[in-house]
Parts: sequence; C-alpha cells; structure tokens
Amino acid sequence: MFKKKRIAILTGGGDCPGINAVIRAVAKKAMLEHGAEVVGIEDGYDGLVKGRWRKLEYNDVSGILTLGGTILGTSNAANPYRYPVKKGRRMEFQDLSRTAIANVERLDVDCLVCIGGDGTMHISSDLFQDGVPVVGIPKTIDNDLLGTDTTFGFDSAVTIATEGIDRLHSTAQSHHRVMIVEVMGRNAGWIALHSGVAGGGDIILIPEIPYDGDIVAAKVKDRNRHGKRFSIVVVAEGARPKGGDVVVRRIVKDSTDPIRLGGIGFVVGAQIERISGIETRTVVMGHLQRGGPPTPCDRVLATKLGTRAVELIEKGDFGYMVAVKGNGLSKSRLEDVARGQRTVRPSDPLIAAARSVGTSFGDQR
Ligand code: F6P
Repeated sequence: MFKKKRIAILTGGGDCPGINAVIRAVAKKAMLEHGAEVVGIEDGYDGLVKGRWRKLEYNDVSGILTLGGTILGTSNAANPYRYPVKKGRRMEFQDLSRTAIANVERLDVDCLVCIGGDGTMHISSDLFQDGVPVVGIPKTIDNDLLGTDTTFGFDSAVTIATEGIDRLHSTAQSHHRVMIVEVMGRNAGWIALHSGVAGGGDIILIPEIPYDGDIVAAKVKDRNRHGKRFSIVVVAEGARPKGGDVVVRRIVKDSTDPIRLGGIGFVVGAQIERISGIETRTVVMGHLQRGGPPTPCDRVLATKLGTRAVELIEKGDFGYMVAVKGNGLSKSRLEDVARGQRTVRPSDPLIAAARSVGTSFGDQR
C-alpha cells in the first residue's frame, strides 16, 4: 500500500515521554523498509490547517529515542472541525476541516499517522470518515484511551510520580507529617492508583471512588495511634468527595477539552489537618510527570506501536489505532476509540490488592 511512498506524521494533545520514540519508529521503518519519504506536520492539527510541515530526513529522526516532548510540536486547541479563531476579543469556532483535508491531498501521502490521546483520535476518526487514510497511535500519560490496555507515556508518568512519593516519605517520616501528592490523570485514576501502590501510599483517592473526608482523616489518626506518625496520601487531580465535585484549576477556552483540573490536594490537605490536627503539606507533581526521557518500558512500547502502525499502512488498514491487548499488539477502530474515556473500574484487581495491604481509598472505614 506504499504506492506513493510518502507518509505524514502529526502529534496532537499534551506532550508526553515517548512521542519522539514513536516518530522515530514510524519514520525509520517507513524509510528503511519502503524507501518512503516522511513529512512531519508541525504543531498537530494546527499545522494541518495552516499548511505547516517539513520533510523529515533520516538524521532528524535519529538520536531522538530518549528525548522528551515532540520534535514536531503539538497543540491541544486546534480541532479542524471546531477551529478557534479570534474575532476581536471574542473567540469564534469555525469548521476548517475542508482546508485540512485539502492540505492532506496537497501532501499526496499514503497515510496520515496521528499520534495522540482521545481528542486526537476523535479528530482522526472524523477525518477518516471524510475520506482521509489515517492510522492512530495511542499516546497519553493518563492511560485513559478506549480500545487499548495501555498507552505509551503512562509508565514514565507513573515512574516520575512514584519517585516523588518515595522522596516525600523522607519529610513525612522525619517531621511526622501528612504529605499529600496530587498527580495528573484527568478523569481517570490510573496514575494515582499505580504510583500510589508502587510508592506505598497509605491513602489513594481516585475519581472513580468518591471519598469521605472523615474516613480519610480517621485513617490518618488510626495510623498515628498505631505508631505510624506520618501518612502519604496520593490524590488524583480528578478525585472528588462523595456528593461533591471536582476542583477546576482553569478553563482553557480554545482547547478541545477546556477544563483543567487541579487543587484537590489542597482541599484534602486542609480537611485532614483540621480534623486530625496533624501538620499536612501538599505537593502537586504537575507537568514534571510529562517531561524528560521515557522509561525503558515506554521506549520499547513506542517502538512496537510505531512499527506496527507502518504494518497497518502496508496492509491498507486505515481508520484504526494500533493498540495493546494483553501481552500482544492489536488494533481498534478509531470510531470506537472516540466513544469515550477508559477509567478505572472499582472492581480492578489492583484496587483489591491495595485494600488487602491496608491502603484506604477513603470510602470504607
Ligand atoms: O492529558 C494529559 C494531561 O497532563 C492531564 O493529565 C492533565 O489534566 C492535562 O493534560 C493538563 O493539561 P495542560 O498541559 O493543558 O495544563
């Protein structure tokens, strides 16, 4: 299916460790095995709408395996179907999908490879419905994409968050404090659950299990009574109390997903300190979780996913996202991926395992 011997790659949504490793895998396989030309679209769908791209030479994609971020740049605002345009002080949204599709035609490629999260896959699915040959590759630290068991970037984020938790143990133990660690993840608790278990968090609060502040404080007091004069609480940014709501940090008006969560760690911290009387501090891991080199696991996954994407192009299997299923690779239809987000099931075996070792989710006494 490499008739034109030319493919284009774009990266959309938030950056995350492993994107460059995927770009490298796709481009090297396409160049080395098919003699294909590879074009990099700049800043995600923004570059597709505005016609900004550049040819990638072999040397551009060599030496980037371990590099954080994306050499192509990205945007989480530019949706061609709802493109933000400033009209004076107002923001207006216009359908510029025809322009984007015309640009794909101008590019004259076998396939447009879209590396991104749910927003990017949603747009890829729409472009495919409109006739663009697309293959998607799942990227997000949040691990919340439907149609795949995991995404590259997640392992790196969990590793960084776990290191943060490990380091915070020192102050928690020395000063007999409660240390709260707020981690990212949007509406999914994957990062909090995995880093919380890996870092031995005493309490883990995730969006999928609304918590009770009194139960959280009681757990801290109980630990104190039993001689554990510190506690580590890992809070997902999307966590919320029973009957309450999430804490919104900011609204990014031109974004495809305007709500930015954050701040719940401070709310939980204040409540614990008030009820338990134990000094409590909050640390927000923030974008540290998205930066720097990918873990070995993510480098391997990125290489597998990137090269598998080229295999889909070889077969003409467009409209799919390459995916992880069990121990192997698979593919999912983009329209199925675009249907929603994959959150943690409260029946997830890792939750049961964490409860078995005494971890509280703030929901049961
Ligand atoms: O989707 C990745 C992510 O890092 C989320 O975990 C977080 O909620 C969001 O992006 C932050 O977005 P921004 O970089 O726009 O603040």
